[in-house]
Parts: sequence; structure tokens; C-alpha cells
Amino acid sequence: MNYQSIFRTGLFAGQTIIVTGGGSGIGRATAVELASLGAHVVLVGRTAEKLTAVQQEITKMGGQSSTFTCNIREEEQVQALFAEVLAQQGAVHGLVNNAGGQFLSPAEFISKKGFHAVVETNLTGTFLMCREAYNQAMRDNGGAIVNMLMENWRGFPGMVHSAAARAGVENMTKTLAVEWARSGVRINAVAPGLIESSGLDNYPEVAQNFIKEIVKDIPFKRMGTESETAAAIVFLLSPGASYISGESIRIDGASSLWRKTWQIEAHDNAPEPYDGFQEP
Ligand code: ADE
Repeated sequence: MNYQSIFRTGLFAGQTIIVTGGGSGIGRATAVELASLGAHVVLVGRTAEKLTAVQQEITKMGGQSSTFTCNIREEEQVQALFAEVLAQQGAVHGLVNNAGGQFLSPAEFISKKGFHAVVETNLTGTFLMCREAYNQAMRDNGGAIVNMLMENWRGFPGMVHSAAARAGVENMTKTLAVEWARSGVRINAVAPGLIESSGLDNYPEVAQNFIKEIVKDIPFKRMGTESETAAAIVFLLSPGASYISGESIRIDGASSLWRKTWQIEAHDNAPEPYDGFQEP
């Protein structure tokens, strides 16, 4: 494997870890890093071609993976996913609930259908994945779950649906951390800020230009990388995080804390971006 992880070789050897939304962006980076560390990664998403492309990438690197198409909004599909993975792999040690979706819109133009669609994927879908992971795999064996949030510390104008859903996921993460502690299940979350991710390509050109402006308001004066997000997820899945549950980590170059009262001139002193996909 030639993903340059900061974690030790073989850290997840013998473990099966499900990554939803594993076909692109942060999900792909997390899947590749976990596979590079010895995990059998189950790539889950709605588009088989994207999952197959990441599977091929992992195979080329010498890692192990399988693919499952599943819509996390559909209860039966989620139940079937865990049943099939358990039949094939015998256990599920970890789950990364990365899959999600949203669209930019002022709140007053969002229909009930549009609002519900985002909540169903980002909140209800994440809940269904957590519940089935627990009921089918982790209740008797323990495990680690990492949920995906967004940096919504001060709300998120333009994405009221997703910000509300992710706030729900953050609170759900705290509740489940307590309810499932007795089973040895840890559950945490990550909240990425502006990440240079393939997901950004889905936004229109005007938004792309806007993003360049927003970078000026990030104290680190740069976007984060997919690998920087994946590394936080991998840490939360690792034994190094054995006493951490119900916690959320912001990966945002301190952007959620910045306000106009403290102007930061352009600088290039932020830590170098970490990209595990680079050759050593
Ligand atoms: N990625 C984005 N939306 C998804 C969904 N509903 N199910 C699985 N993966 C997804």
C-alpha cells in the first residue's frame, strides 16, 4: 500500500470497517487509509461504479475491500447490508457514517420535500446505520462508530437543512455514546470545515468563486485536505481513542472560532497540508 498514513502498519489488521459514501471525497480517502492499515473495508454507496473504482484503487495498493450498493435512507436495505457483510466477514468492528448530501439554498426556497430529503439522508440514514451496526454486530462485541458532521458552530446560512440534520447527528452521537457504553461501543463524530474535496465540484461556479473568498476568513488561510479529515476519523476508530466517546472533533483551521474583531493578514504559516495520497 502506498497511502502515507501517519498510523502504524497493520493497526486495523483483522478488522472489517464499513465506510458509507466510500466512492469519493473524504469517504474514499478514509477507506484507502483504513485499507492501507490492514482493514477489510466495506465500501457502501448508491453508485456501484464509484465504489468499484475505489475498490480497484485499494486492490492495486494491496489492500482488501468489498462493495455494497445501499441507500442508507431505506431501512430494509440497511438491515440487508449488515446481514450480508456479517455473512461474508463474520464481524463488523467499525463504521464510518460518511454518506450524506445537501444543496445550497436560502431557507425560504427550500420545499418540505427538499428539507426532508436532506434530513432523511444525513440524520435518519445515519441513525439507521448506527442502529443496525449495534443490533446486528456491536451489541455483543463492541465496536467504534464515527459520524460525519459539518462545521455548523454558528449555524450554516445557505444550508439550513443539512446544518439542522448534522446538529441532530452530533446530539445523537452523545446519546448513543452513553446508551451503548455498556456494550463497549464508542461513537464519535468529526466536523469538517472547508475541505478541498471532490464534493466541492458539485457546487456551481459562482459557489466555487465564493469559496476562494471564504478561504481569506480561515485563520489558517487554506482549505483542509481529505487526508486531514480521514486521519481524524482513523484516530477515533483506533485504540488510541479508547477512552473517547460522544465527542466531536472540528477539522476547520480554527475557522469556526474566527470573528472580524481579529483581522489576520494573508500568511502561509499554517501547518503544511497533509496529503496521504502523495508518494513518500
Ligand atoms: N451518499 C449520498 N446519499 C446516500 C444515500 N442515501 N445512501 C448511500 N450513500 C449515499
